[in-house]
Formats: sequence, structure tokens, C-alpha cells
Amino acid sequence: MTSNPLSPLPAAPNAEGRLAAWLQDALVKAFGEQVGDTRLQVVPATDTAFGDFQCNDAMRLAKQLRLPPRAIASRIVEALDPDGAPASASVAGAGFINIAVSPAWLGEQLAALAAQPRTGLPDLGGGRTVIIDYSSPNVAKPMHIGHIRSTIIGNAICRLHRALGYRVIADNHLGDWGTQFGILIRGYRAFADPARLREAPIEELERVYVASYNRAKEDPAWMDACRAELVKLQQGDPDNLNQWREFIDLSLKEFNRIYARLDVAFDLYRGESHYNDRLAGTVALLEARGLARESEGAIVVPLDDEGMPVCIVRKSDGGYNYATTDIATVQSREEEFQPDRIIYVTDERQQLHFRQFFTVCRKLGSTTRLEHVWFGLMRLPEGTFSTRQGNVIKLEALLDEAERRALAIIQGASPEMPPEQQQALARDIGIGAVKYADLSHDPQNMIVFTWDRALALDGNSGPYLQYAFARLRSLLDKYRAVCPGRDPAAAPLLLDEPIERQLALQLLQYPATVVRAAEGCKPSFLADYLFALAQLTSSFYQRFPILKAEPAIRDSRACLCSLVARVLREGLDLLGIATPERI
Ligand code: ARG
Repeated sequence: MTSNPLSPLPAAPNAEGRLAAWLQDALVKAFGEQVGDTRLQVVPATDTAFGDFQCNDAMRLAKQLRLPPRAIASRIVEALDPDGAPASASVAGAGFINIAVSPAWLGEQLAALAAQPRTGLPDLGGGRTVIIDYSSPNVAKPMHIGHIRSTIIGNAICRLHRALGYRVIADNHLGDWGTQFGILIRGYRAFADPARLREAPIEELERVYVASYNRAKEDPAWMDACRAELVKLQQGDPDNLNQWREFIDLSLKEFNRIYARLDVAFDLYRGESHYNDRLAGTVALLEARGLARESEGAIVVPLDDEGMPVCIVRKSDGGYNYATTDIATVQSREEEFQPDRIIYVTDERQQLHFRQFFTVCRKLGSTTRLEHVWFGLMRLPEGTFSTRQGNVIKLEALLDEAERRALAIIQGASPEMPPEQQQALARDIGIGAVKYADLSHDPQNMIVFTWDRALALDGNSGPYLQYAFARLRSLLDKYRAVCPGRDPAAAPLLLDEPIERQLALQLLQYPATVVRAAEGCKPSFLADYLFALAQLTSSFYQRFPILKAEPAIRDSRACLCSLVARVLREGLDLLGIATPERI
């Protein structure tokens, strides 16, 4: 089978789509050609007391059909085909149509969802390309908390897009070029301590940098020597290039250790230096298009028409700026990958930079969807980052502490578990807790990280969700022991209790939730969804017997549980959170 990578495949029909088609037929029957190309939409009910789904479109049709919304809604409901009716519908309020679906129909929808290999996730991307520029720390400097949040949020955004059929290119746009390298090279040759370099390379490079920088401030000859090293590097001097590469290697070794612990990987590590050869051409193009002009020896792109300060693309000393590199990077990415969308993930302090260079790219004719996903800084536990803000060692200390605390909880709860298994579990839970604490909030809200909240087994936390999953798995193991040879996932669903209906309706919302989270770059939508699903499930099995229910109900409940477990596992995986089988 051949498929055109540029046209997205239609989404698999879902419950809302089927109900909308049912209403649509009635609309056409009631009003004929008058409805034109109006398509009715069905959404989940805002208040489940009135039904399972609702349609709010009568309000929108009032003008077109010259009737009060309530009258329109009534005529649609009267014209509904009762044969094989999935549901009953009624009119409420100003003209809402409330829909209550039958348990049998709900069961069919859920079985249809379960039968799909990706649990109903549509192929939205159809192979189109999304580049996600995230993490992107600066070489020879410690990763700060902003980079760590970028790493966790950016990685979840990658996973969400991949699951929806996009070709995702995860690109680590390292800060690996610029004036700091002259200062660093000079400082390194004078002050670097080999023993310290071996032990804590980035800390040592940072120390060297600070020492050299301070000396340059007082000693003009030192400053000149730093500049000379920079010029040599820029001109391709082999010694300085080798030195610079060594800085990159040392830094990457440390960054990669953190990425491995966080289960994060990149397709490309193209730092700023990768685009160096393009910068002069980019500035020349801006000038040729009449977009840039000279100002006090510098070259700038005026942006007053957009109410922003000028974007400096070449400094008066001839050096290029961060923005110049980013403009050149967009052009290079467009040429090489033809992306639909480029998503950048950084902290809030860079908002103006992104707005500026996005505008410059548009002035140059770029039609790629360029988006900046920014987040506020997170306050971390007292002491964790007390000396230098968020340095690498301290960040690893945060991960270490997460694992240590998780281990203590596991040792308390499962003392009989073999120690290696406890360790592995502590890793999954500790890292999951840190990730979830980050991903469960709207990234733009200021958050305060506390250990109690991150590791709470009874609150909105990573461990709570992991525990919910493991509990379902052990329940399903028991089911298999009671009913050998029977596949719980294949049992017919009987959804008569209100909470069973609610669970089924919540499960049906999984694909749409993933789409919303990816489209809006908000992993928190998925986190909220999974938390609500886990809470519903736990009140379900606290109140109703499963293994002890009569056989048909027992099988149906086991089936419901196996679906919840599947969605929890897939959903947590999209957030980059592991789901151990046992806790
Ligand atoms: N290296 C930058 C920093 O640490 C982040 C880079 C983000 N990506 C980009 N294309 N500008 O602040």
C-alpha cells in the first residue's frame, strides 16, 4: 500500500463522530437543504447528571434557520432515527441536546477502541515532520533547572507527536559557539586542574571560565589574549579547534549521563556552531530583501511595526548574535527537512527573543509553524540548589535523592523484595516522580516542587499512577489464576453501574486527550486525564467486587480493568514515565 506522506489519514471514527452522524441525519431530515454544509458536533457532557454527550449547535444554527434554538433542537430530536438508536436524546435549557447512550452501545464503542492497535490514536501527522528543539544546554556550563524542565517537557512533546504519526526530529541545539570560548581557552591553558577535570569536568570548566573572566575585567592584556584565542578559533586554528572540541566532548559526556537517567534521546545534536557558515549569508539576504539596515555600526532588522525592539543580526564588532543563528537555523531546517512545525522549549526569559526572530523569519517568507513553548522556573526544595543555581552535580543530586526516597518507601512496603529489584523499582519511581511533578502542571504556572507532593502515594503524583497500574496488573494476574485460559481483554462489556459507565466514557476520551496535549504542547492535559482515570478506577474497585462478582460481571469488570491498565501504560509512556509491573 502506498500512502501520501503529506495527507493525514482520516481519524478512526469515534463515539462522538458516530453520534454526530446520527444527529446530522436527523438535521437533514428536519430541515433539508436549508442546513447547507453545517456539520453538527458532539462533545462529552459538561455535567454528567444530564447525559453522556451533548450537542450545542442549535444556538449556532438559529440565525441561519430563523428559528429559536430550542425549536431547532426539538425538531432534530424528533427526526432522530429510533432504529438501532445508540442512545436517547432530549432538549434542555436554551437549546442543548443531551444524549444518554445505552450500555450496550457504550460497550461496543469501547470494544472498537480496544481493537485498534494504537488504542484509537489517529494518524494526525501522516508522516509530516515536526522538529522539536529542546534541552539545548550551553557547553562548558552547568545545566540549570531551565534546561532540565526543557528536557522533560520537550521529550514528552516528542513522544506525543510520534504517537500521532508525525516524523519527529528531536534536535539538541547546544550553545557551543560564541565569545565565551576565547575566555575559556585562555583560562583553561592557565588554570585548569587535571584532577578536578577528571572528577567534575563541567564544574572545573566553569571555575576556569569565571577565573579567566574576572582576570580579563582587571587586566587589559589578558582580555586581549582571550580575544586573540577567539579569533584563532574562528579562523580554524587546529589547536584551538581541538581544545574547543574537547570542551564539547566533556560537556556532552555529562549531559548524556543525565539524558540516560531520564530516558531521553535526540536525533540530532546540532549546536549553534553547525550554522556558523551560514550567518554571513543570512545577514546578506536580510539586507538584500531590504529588511535590515545599519545602525551605529551594527546591522539590525527593525520590528517597530510589530511593537518590538530591533533585532540585532550583526554587532558593530562584526560578530553575529543568538538571533542570527536562530534565523539561519530555521532556513537550514526548512531546506533539509521541510518541517510543518518547529517547536522550541525554553524558560520564560527568552520570550522576546523568539517573538523577534519568528517575525524576522516570516518577513523572509517562512510559512513553517514556529512555536515557542515556554515555562516558568520551578522552585526546588530548600538546599538542593543552594550554592550555584542548578548546577549539574546538584541536579544529579536531585535525581539521587528522588531514588533514595523512593527506595525507602519500597523497602517499607515490600521488605521481602530482592534488593536489586528494589533498586530498579526505586529508579523507575524516583525518576517518574520528578518527571510527573514537572509534567502535571501547566508549564506556564509557577510551581514549587516538594518531595511530599512528588512522592505522595495518595495524591496527583507519578508514584500514585504507577501504583494504580501495578495494582491493576496484580488484579489481572489473580483473575487469570481464577479463570485460567480466559483473556480478560476479550470479555463482553456489561456497563450497568454508573461508575462503570463513567470509566468507559473516560477511556473513550483517551485519543482526543492525546491529540489536545500534542496540539497545544501541554503534556499536563494527558497527566490530568490519567489521574482522573486512576481515581475513578480506584473508587470503582473499592466499592464493587471484581473477582467475587458473578461470572459475566466478573469477566466484564476484568476487561474494563485491563483496558484501564493499557491506557495507563500507554499514556504514562507518552509522558516518559515507566510502568513497573509490581510495586
Ligand atoms: N542554549 C540556550 C540556553 O541555554 C537555549 C537554546 C534554545 N534553542 C534555540 N534554538 N534558541 O538558553
